[in-house]
Amino acid sequence: MGVKEILEDGKLGREEIITLLEATGEDKQLLFKRANEIKLQELGNLVHFRGLVEFSNICGKDCYYCGIRKSNREVHRYNVSDEQILDAARFAHMNAYGSFVMQAGELESPAFTLRVENLLKEIKILSKGELGITLSLGEQTEEVLERWFTAGAHRYLLRIESSNPELYQRYHPSDTLHDYARRLTSLKTLQRIGYQTGTGVMIGLPFQSTGDLADDLLFMKHFDIDMVGMGPYIEHQHTPLFQFRSELLPIQERFDLTLKMIATLRIMMKDINIAAATAMQAIDPLGREKAVKVGANIIMPNITPGKFRNDYALYENKPCVDEEPEECKNCLDVRIQLADGEIGYNEWGDSKHFHKRTAGE
Ligand code: 5AD
Ligand code: FES
Repeated sequence: MGVKEILEDGKLGREEIITLLEATGEDKQLLFKRANEIKLQELGNLVHFRGLVEFSNICGKDCYYCGIRKSNREVHRYNVSDEQILDAARFAHMNAYGSFVMQAGELESPAFTLRVENLLKEIKILSKGELGITLSLGEQTEEVLERWFTAGAHRYLLRIESSNPELYQRYHPSDTLHDYARRLTSLKTLQRIGYQTGTGVMIGLPFQSTGDLADDLLFMKHFDIDMVGMGPYIEHQHTPLFQFRSELLPIQERFDLTLKMIATLRIMMKDINIAAATAMQAIDPLGREKAVKVGANIIMPNITPGKFRNDYALYENKPCVDEEPEECKNCLDVRIQLADGEIGYNEWGDSKHFHKRTAGE
């Protein structure tokens, strides 16, 4: 079947997904158009903001793709103070962002658990319960995830990075800290506890085929995921995967493939939240807006205090590293309007899919 027939028929199996991901020219435009229509039908044109604070780049793990991996000695490590994190939460609240995301390098320790737990409670108090809170703090034990849920977090992002266990192994050291099975268990635990559960993958990694990407989308569907954040892989010179850079797709093609992944996923999962990843903006200044036009409905403005931003370099050319939160806000208002969107101020912007899933529909 061709792209037009697939879009009319609407049933997306592995072969059909591959055809969509390989679409070019007019076919590609048809895909984008259909995805945008579905988004407008299901979710309207509202884009929701999540104020993102990357509060520490200290990481206990050593993923082969990531610039802040433990073994990278070139990184200046930082930890934003509790007071500054709370200031950022106040900023998000006062600017009506509706939601707040706390992300950091991956650490598991009683002290870290307690710190996050206390911050969650304080953010709930300072925002009078109005600010939604998402965590993106990697794999944790069930007990820790329960504690954070009780303290006020209600969404959690944990990217599977690649849903193919063999590929996962090629992107991570072979040890208990980087175990695919544990990653999967953590995702299931998040769902069981009652978090709105988000995952995602990197697109354009070395050794990855279009078939693998189709499998990633099917994984999200079968997992009944509520939220997705996926972005292009961008090589970082101080990481092991950098040695395979000559095997990568040109960066523009990785960007284009990411747009097609977002559009295809929107057709497959009509009511989930899909974020326009910051990595898209690293490649194209209008990257996130382009994602919004093909199915994304969430943007995560970076509100990390300016002086720390340069050091949260998961990949190279990270955008907006020199800006302060206030400047980002003004810039985003304009950008979303340009993408024919409207910002859902003061709303949590929960995943509709989550509410249907938990209501048993
Ligand atoms: N390029 C693109 N995305 C990356 N991430 C980590 N390193 C890179 C990279 N080099 C993504 C991972 C992780 C998220 C926080 O950032 O998917 O889950
Ligand atoms: Fe920090 Fe992978 S390097 S979580």
